[in-house]
Amino acid sequence: MNFHILTLFPEMVQNGLNTSIIGRAVNAGLLSVETVNIRDYAFNKHQSVDDYPYGGGAGMLMQAEPVYLAYEAVAKRIGSRTAEKKKTRVVYLSPQGDVFTQKMAEELAAEEDLILLCGHYEGIDERVLEEIVTDYVSIGDYVLTGGELPAMVIADAVSRLVPGVLHNDVSAEFESFQDNLLEYPQYSRPEEWRGKKVPPVLLSGHHANIEKWRRQQSILRTKERRPDLLERSRLTEEERRWLEEEGGLV
Ligand code: ADE
Repeated sequence: MNFHILTLFPEMVQNGLNTSIIGRAVNAGLLSVETVNIRDYAFNKHQSVDDYPYGGGAGMLMQAEPVYLAYEAVAKRIGSRTAEKKKTRVVYLSPQGDVFTQKMAEELAAEEDLILLCGHYEGIDERVLEEIVTDYVSIGDYVLTGGELPAMVIADAVSRLVPGVLHNDVSAEFESFQDNLLEYPQYSRPEEWRGKKVPPVLLSGHHANIEKWRRQQSILRTKERRPDLLERSRLTEEERRWLEEEGGLV
């Protein structure tokens, strides 16, 4: 997976993604994170990339041309929309986009290259967005100062789904949002901490009982914390009956 991040703040993105698991995966050659400084494609002597919006209004807009040139440089280099290759997806981070989900992360993880476009100021001239963007993605219903943090969020969520990035391949499978259920609670040593004991079933060594307990905990936790998700999860008949006894779906 190769991320190409178009931004006015490349060092912010590089610093955010070159540590921990993602940094290790980059060093191992499983991922690459290229940042492209849109300012390098400014076409005036002041190297400015923003201007006032036509029609008036608050703030400044990023101009179309530097964004387009930055995109074009990347697209040419990676051979986007050539005979051999379909158009690379270009994700524009914006509160106006579809809200990012685990399902979208899975879909994006199947791409070979991904271009992430970060806006700043009051946004980007609409014409270049129409020209290059394939996906509008928001990371939630709140407004940030720019698309850099959302781009890092997406790169992180997508990267950990790339085979080999998490050392343990199963750990991306059994976790929150799998089948629309949240993850069960986990415990490590000591067996008793400040008077609180680890649930005895986890010490029993009985794998079938442990699996059943974990699944039930996932269901209960989802019911408590994210009832909206539970409605979309696929419970067995037996689990539905059990949940009914526990107090029902709502
Ligand atoms: N840019 C500013 N706010 C954003 C958000 N919530 N999601 C994605 N991009 C953004």
